[in-house]
Amino acid sequence: MHKGTARAYTNIALIKYWGKKDDALILPMNNSLSLTLDAFFTDTTVTFDEQYTKDVFYLDTVLQDEKATAKVSRFLDLVREKMDRPLFATVESINHVPTAAGLASSASGLAALALACNEALRLNLSKTEVSRLARRGSGSACRSIFGGFVEWEQGTDDLSSFARPIEADRFEDELAMVFILLNDKQKDVSSRDGMKRTVDTSAFYPAWVNTAGEDLTLIKQAIAEKSFTKLGEVTEANALKMHATTLAATPPFTYWSPESLRAMEVVKSLRKDGLECYFTMDAGPNVKVLCKKQDRQQIIARLTQEFSAEQIICALTGPDAHSIETE
Ligand code: DP6
Repeated sequence: MHKGTARAYTNIALIKYWGKKDDALILPMNNSLSLTLDAFFTDTTVTFDEQYTKDVFYLDTVLQDEKATAKVSRFLDLVREKMDRPLFATVESINHVPTAAGLASSASGLAALALACNEALRLNLSKTEVSRLARRGSGSACRSIFGGFVEWEQGTDDLSSFARPIEADRFEDELAMVFILLNDKQKDVSSRDGMKRTVDTSAFYPAWVNTAGEDLTLIKQAIAEKSFTKLGEVTEANALKMHATTLAATPPFTYWSPESLRAMEVVKSLRKDGLECYFTMDAGPNVKVLCKKQDRQQIIARLTQEFSAEQIICALTGPDAHSIETE
């Protein structure tokens, strides 16, 4: 029996990953940059055993169906390529979220699974190699191997596409991200399908690719200068650009709900009142608010005038993914 357990934290992109140049290897069209957060994480135990006759997957202690298990199996196949004698596995994942937020994250999930496999099989992979492996499961997962600010270098092949931490002289410790949970039901268009449709059909997609590099340069300047204003402005503009591409896809779609628009307006009104904060959004209607750690209580207080307290979750910067000792 070969068993390993690992914990990985979710990350939110400030410069988004949106579109692949290689679907099989999950190579992105542009570099992305994220902040790893402490409030959401996944603990995963993987056990490979000679006795097992198939892969089995438990999520939050519930045995998963064939479809969900097949996804995990496809990832395990990549790991089995590294084994002399391939074995089936049982995977047990627990998603830790502060409330029943339905914020299950593929980023923390696949990052924890990749690291747990490394532990179980004593593969001795470096963090860069674990990041590359996690990338094959879900692109954004490669960033969750590291804490703080993280850049995913798009690369040109499997070897050169991985994430690395960005040295920021502890600027990341001055930040917080407040989640406004607007809808926890299953998303209509997955990030995987949404980005593919956009790459294939959106007339705005070339503009996204052409400007992603500039946004990355700007955000790295903001980090180097510890300029919160610059950081927030680039984050917000980049998210809006990403979401603009989906409206020009065929068929068109959007992740925004009326409540998302309301939340964005609330963020702007906080700004007008001198409480500096900026929004970002991913492949769903929830709005995430980037703010200074020192302002978070005031911002939460204002947001809970507009939304219920259960809808608001505050996260600070999170650490590297790490293994957890099991007996
Ligand atoms: C909008 O990593 O979920 O959150 O690689 O197909 O699994 P796959 O996609 P995924 O996409 C995340 C997209 C995003 C932006 C981001 O996290 O950079």
